[in-house]
Amino acid sequence: MKVSVSPGHNINGTLILPLFEGSEAVPESLEAGLHNSLKGQINRILDDGDFKAKLKSTMSIIGGEGGKAMLVGLGKEADCDIHAYRKAGAAVIANRKKAHGTELTARFSTASIEEMGAFAEGMLLRDYSYDHYKQQDKDDEEADIDVRINCNDEQEAGLSPLIKIHAGVASGVHLSRDLGNCPPNDMYPEAFADQAWEWAKQFDNVEVTIINYAQAVKAGMGGLVAVGMGSERKPCMVIFELNRDKKGRGPMLVGKGITFDTGGISLKPGANMDEMKYDMGGSATVFGTMQALASTGYSGKVSAITCMAENMPSSNAQRPGDVIKTLSGKTIEVLNTDAEGRLVLSDGLWKAGEFDPEYIIDFATLTGACVVALGHEATGLWSNDDDFRTRIHEAGNAVGELAWPMPLLPAFEKEMTDSKIADTRNLGAGRWGGANTAAAFLKQFVPNRNYEKDGEQIPWAHMDIAGTYWGAKTNSMVGHGATGIHVRTIYHLITQG
Ligand code: BES
Ligand code: ZN
Ligand code: ZN
Repeated sequence: MKVSVSPGHNINGTLILPLFEGSEAVPESLEAGLHNSLKGQINRILDDGDFKAKLKSTMSIIGGEGGKAMLVGLGKEADCDIHAYRKAGAAVIANRKKAHGTELTARFSTASIEEMGAFAEGMLLRDYSYDHYKQQDKDDEEADIDVRINCNDEQEAGLSPLIKIHAGVASGVHLSRDLGNCPPNDMYPEAFADQAWEWAKQFDNVEVTIINYAQAVKAGMGGLVAVGMGSERKPCMVIFELNRDKKGRGPMLVGKGITFDTGGISLKPGANMDEMKYDMGGSATVFGTMQALASTGYSGKVSAITCMAENMPSSNAQRPGDVIKTLSGKTIEVLNTDAEGRLVLSDGLWKAGEFDPEYIIDFATLTGACVVALGHEATGLWSNDDDFRTRIHEAGNAVGELAWPMPLLPAFEKEMTDSKIADTRNLGAGRWGGANTAAAFLKQFVPNRNYEKDGEQIPWAHMDIAGTYWGAKTNSMVGHGATGIHVRTIYHLITQG
C-alpha cells in the first residue's frame, strides 16, 4: 500500500468517507469535487438512517454515475480517539472488495493530524495477507492499493512525515507476521538466521551475528542446546545490533524462537499441534521491531537476541529427568521437555548482560496458562521493576496493544528453585499459576549489572504473548494468523516512552 497526502480536491478512485454517529448529510467541508449524484445518494442514505456510522461499520456505494464511495463509521464523536480512527481505517481495508478498485481517496471533516495518521496506520496494518504458498490466478491479481488523503496545506506538512513513520513501523509488523505464518518446514532456526543475515545487508548501521550450534555448545549454552539437539535442524542464537557504535546503554530485546514445538519427549497432544509453528512469535516480534526501528531511521542503540530451536522428540532429544547446565552456570532439572521456551531463554537472558543494556524485555509464546488467564485480549506482563512495568503497560495502551500487569511473587521463585538435585526446575510443583511460575523461573537468569555477584539485577520485563500473537479474533488490525503484536508497543516505548 502506498499512502500519500495531498491538499487538492480531486477524488481519485473510491471516496472514503469517515463519519460520526448521527451524521445526517455529507459535511459541507467535504463537498469539494464531489459529484452531485454521489452526494445525493450519500445524503439520502444518511437522511434515511440507513447508515448509523457505528465504529468499524462500512457501507459501499458502487455503480452510480457519480463515482464510488465507502462510508465508514467512527462511532460517537465524543468517544472518538486515535484508537477509533485506527480501527476505522483497518475496517476500510477489511471490507474493500475488487469492485472498489485499488485507488482510494480519504477526506476527513474534523480530524487532527494524529487522528488522520492513525486512520492511515490502520489501513496500512490491515493491508496484509499471507499468500506466498498459493498459486496466483492471473485474473485475481491486483495492483498495490494507492491511498490519497485530502487535507489542507498546513496539515500536509505534519501528516506526510507521520505517515512515513507509520508505514515503516507497519513493515516491521508485517515482517513479524510473515515469520510467524511461515510453515515450519521452511521456517527453522538456520532459515531464520539466514533471513536476518540477508536483511541486515540493506542497512549500514545494523549488525547481525549468528552463534551456530557448535559455537553454542562450546560457549556452554546448555539450555539452547538441550532443546534443539533432538532435531536434525540444529539450534542457533541470532544477535541483532542497531547503531552498535553509539555510546551509552540501549534497550535489549530477547525472543523465544521455537520454530516448531512438538513438546519433545513430553509430546503434545495432536489436536491443533500445527499451530505450534508460531512458537517463534517472540523472535518474530524482536526481528519485526528491529525492522521498524531501522527502516524509520532510529538513531539510538538497540540490541536483540533471538534463541532459535526446533523442539523435537528423537533419540538425540533431551529427556524428562535430565539436568542441564546453562550459560549462567546454574543448573536446571528438566521435568517436562514441553516447558522448553524457558530453557532457551535462560541462555538468551544471561547472554544479554554482555551488552550492558539499559533494560531487557523478553517476548515469548511461553505458556498455555497465560492464555487461560488473559484469553486473546492481553499479553501477560511481569517485571522486576514496577516503574518499568508501568512504562511498558502505558506504551501498550498508547498504541492499542494491551499488556496486563502480572505478579512476580517470591513464592513462585521458591517453587521454581526447590529442585532436590539442581539449582532450578523447569516445572512448577503443581499445575496452578503456570504463567507466573514460568516468569519466576526466567527471573533466575536475568543477570546483575556487569554480572556482579551482589550487584543489582538489570531492569527486566517478560511478555507472554501466547494468547496475543495468534488467534486474536478481536484484534481488528489483522485478518487471521500471526498478529505481529508489540512491534508497535516497543517502537513506541523506545522512541517516545
Ligand atoms: N509453546 C508452549 C506454550 C503455548 C501454549 C503457546 C499454547 C501458545 C499456545 C510452551 O512451550 C508449552 O508447551 N508450555 C507448557 C508448559 C508446561 C509444560 C509447564 C504449557 O503451557 O502447557
Ligand atoms: Zn512447549
Ligand atoms: Zn513452546
